[in-house]
Amino acid sequence: MSFRIQPTPAARPNRCQLFGPGSRPAIFEKMAASAADVINLDLEDSVAPSDKPSARENIIAALSDIDWGNKTVSVRINGLDTPYWYRDVVDILEKASERIDLLMIPKVGCAADIYAVDALATAIEQAKNRKKPVGFEVIIESAAGIANVQEIAAASPRLEAMSLGAADFAASMGMATTGIGGTQENYYMARDGEKHWSDPWHWAQAAIVAACRSHGVLPVDGPFGDFSDDEGFRAQALRSATLGMVGKWAIHPKQVALANEVFTPSEAAVAEAREILAAMETAKANGEGATVYKGRLVDIASIKQAEVIVRQSEMIAG
Ligand code: COA
Ligand code: MG
Repeated sequence: MSFRIQPTPAARPNRCQLFGPGSRPAIFEKMAASAADVINLDLEDSVAPSDKPSARENIIAALSDIDWGNKTVSVRINGLDTPYWYRDVVDILEKASERIDLLMIPKVGCAADIYAVDALATAIEQAKNRKKPVGFEVIIESAAGIANVQEIAAASPRLEAMSLGAADFAASMGMATTGIGGTQENYYMARDGEKHWSDPWHWAQAAIVAACRSHGVLPVDGPFGDFSDDEGFRAQALRSATLGMVGKWAIHPKQVALANEVFTPSEAAVAEAREILAAMETAKANGEGATVYKGRLVDIASIKQAEVIVRQSEMIAG
C-alpha cells in the first residue's frame, strides 16, 4: 500500500460520449438534444481528407451557435501521424469559443505525443488570451499506446479521460478480427462440445483502468460498431462497468440510452450500498471492523466499495 492518496478524476458524468462527423453539421442539433453526457465532434476518421477544412469551420461555428446545455463538448483532432492535426489545434483554439471543453487526441503512443499537443495548446491559449484552458482526452488504440499506458495517463494535468479504441487497437495488435468491440466469434474456450466465449478486450481495458485510476483520469470504453446488436452492446458495457470504466461511446444515437442505463448505478445497487454502509455504522458502534450482511462478510473495505456506487449515483443525480 502506498502512502500516496489516489487522485480523484473530474467529478462530471461521462456515461455516454456521442460521436458525429464534423462534416455532417445537420446532426449537430440532434447531438445537442441527445441524452449523452459528452459530445465528440469528429475531425478524424469519420471525415474524408477533402472535408477536413470545412469540418473545422462547421465545428467552430457550432461551438458558438448551438446550445450544448450542460454537456461536456469535445473535438477529436487528427492523429500526430497525419498532416492535419496541427491545423486542427490551431484553428480550433484560435477561432472557437470557450464553450469547447476538451480536445480528444487519437492514437497516442507515448507521453511525448501529449506533450506536443500541450505545448501547442499552451502557446495558443497565451497568445489569444483564452481564459479557460482546454482539457484533453486520449484514445488508446495501438500496441504502443497500451504498452505505454501508464506514462500516457500521467502526461499532462489537462488529461481528463482515456478511451479504448477497439478497431484501431485490433488492427495495430494484428488481431484476426474486423469487429469493433464486443464478442469475437473465434475467441472461445471449448469443453464437452460447447463453446464459452471470452473477452479479448479484457486485458487492455484492465490496463487502462489501472493507469487511469493511478493518475486521476476517467477510464472509458470506446465504440461498439454493430449498432443493431443491443444485447452485445449491453454485455460489453456491463463488463466495462464491472471493471471500473465510467462510460462508453455511442456511434449511433440509439446506443445513448443503453450506455446511460448501464453506467447509472441502479436503484437496487444504490440501496444495497447504503444498507452496507448502515451495517458497517452499526458494526463500528459495537467496536467491530467486520460484520455479516445478507449472509456474507462485509468489512472496512466494503465501505469503500459501497461508497464508489453511492458517490457515482450522487454525482450523476447532482
Ligand atoms: N448523432 C445524432 N444523431 C444522429 C447521428 C449521430 N451520430 N447519426 C444519425 N443520427 C440521426 C439521423 O440524422 C436520423 O435522424 P432523423 O430520424 O431525424 O432523420 C436518425 O439519427 C437515424 O439515423 P440513421 O438513418 O439510423 O443513421 P444514418 O445512416 O443517418 O447514420 C452513421 C449512421 C453510423 C453513419 C452515423 O450514425 C454516424 O456518422 N455516426 C458517428 C460516426 C463517427 O463519428 N465515427 C467516429 C467515432 S468511431
Ligand atoms: Mg480510431
